[in-house]
Amino acid sequence: MHNSDFPTYRGHMEYVCLSCGQRYPADSLLYTCPQCGGVFLLENTDFAHLRTTDGPTWRKRFDSRAAARSTALRGIFRYYELMAPLMDEEDIVYLGEGITPIVEAAAPLRDQVGVPFAYKNDGQNPSASFKDRGMACAFSYLKWLCRRNDWEEVLTVCASTGDTSAAAALYASYVGAPLKSVVLLPHGKVTPQQLSQPLGSGATVLELPGVFDDCMKVVELLAENYRVALLNSKNSWRILGQESYAYEVAQWYNWDVDRLCLFVPVGNAGNITAIMSGFLKMYDLGIITTLPRIFGVQSSHADPVYRYYAAPEGERVWQPVDVRPSVAQAAMIGNPVSMPRVRRLAERFVEAGGERAFQVVQVTEQQIMDAMIEANRHGHIACTQGGECLAGLRNARRLGLVGDNEHAVLDATAHALKFAGFQEMYFTDAFPPAYEVQPDVRLANAPELLLPQEAREGRDVAEFARLGAEAVVKRLGLARR
Ligand code: F0G
Repeated sequence: MHNSDFPTYRGHMEYVCLSCGQRYPADSLLYTCPQCGGVFLLENTDFAHLRTTDGPTWRKRFDSRAAARSTALRGIFRYYELMAPLMDEEDIVYLGEGITPIVEAAAPLRDQVGVPFAYKNDGQNPSASFKDRGMACAFSYLKWLCRRNDWEEVLTVCASTGDTSAAAALYASYVGAPLKSVVLLPHGKVTPQQLSQPLGSGATVLELPGVFDDCMKVVELLAENYRVALLNSKNSWRILGQESYAYEVAQWYNWDVDRLCLFVPVGNAGNITAIMSGFLKMYDLGIITTLPRIFGVQSSHADPVYRYYAAPEGERVWQPVDVRPSVAQAAMIGNPVSMPRVRRLAERFVEAGGERAFQVVQVTEQQIMDAMIEANRHGHIACTQGGECLAGLRNARRLGLVGDNEHAVLDATAHALKFAGFQEMYFTDAFPPAYEVQPDVRLANAPELLLPQEAREGRDVAEFARLGAEAVVKRLGLARR
């Protein structure tokens, strides 16, 4: 439906290579610099024009869009001018992504951790992870491109630890022709729930042995040499969409992010890149007047970004790592493609917000699992990566990095249900040794069958109800009223 409130502003977008600085117009589909192979960020070269509107006016504008009835402005494009202001309303794909709830920690959990914090439940996106933010933007852009170019068929491809493929397949199946989805997964390294998603969406699901990093190399080769549209976060349109996370956090806290500490699990490093970029844009426009602090979190089984920043400035050497099995499997990545973006944005973040504005903390597999189980026993719906964030907050507290007067926001990047298998391993003490997780047996939980299967046979409902109730009463020791 056409909506007269849709923004009329259009910017001028360009790809900027982070290695050689070369620029390219945004109306061709590029992933890496044709000259040097470097990764891109997208830039609105007309950004100065946005500065002619003051911070309070932007805030009011975004606040008033919260009531928009147009689906185009209902999700991540509430912040249209800051993201990808070149698409038209008809291009925007909306599946209900974004504007996810921020839920304050249950009081006993908060007291245990010793500092107030909240979870932002990005698992409440349509494909149950934050990836939908980036896909909504990337698919809107693809629609825009297809319309301009009259393309007959576009094969979208991505490598994935599970969630990117689920999101890509979902959006491709919704948009339909000329888009078709192909996903490439590391065999056995994606949970059954994640695997069911692209299958259900009708994508072509291909698997290869190895880990995500191997699959990523394969799709990079494909994207460089064949006619396919790459949907990994190497695709900078994904990054723009994921910036919406930062805008939503700022808006929720009434545009006052002073004393906020955001914890973000880092895998391929697209998410943390996007979040920093989003806050920097708001800061630049005076929409926020301070920057929050950003903490990347990595498991010791996949921690190249942590290792890089653990070295003092001037002595940092980038070194991909070989990953070991991790319960934070979606972030189990040894050679993140967005590392050059992290370096660039972290530098700008620290420049504007000071030394403590960007840090990376490390957690153990044990800490991740314990934290996820604890969080969910307190009414949260954290995936293992969400558990990783809570573990990161606990470690940051222990290291004295987060003060009593700060407030943490943890990114529950996916829904707990996608990682039910790790919960099951925890409850049944079934982790293969390589994970290095010893469950706290007091937290174990299992269903109890109260009557044998035959108990239902040959009895009418009333009789069975009496029998069943008797069994429950006995098990719970219920008193009559
Ligand atoms: N949390 C979840 C649930 C993820 O699926 C991912 C990444 C991350 C955290 C890490 O985010 O890569 O932006 O640093 N999953 C990708 C995928 C790699 O293929 O689904 P990142």
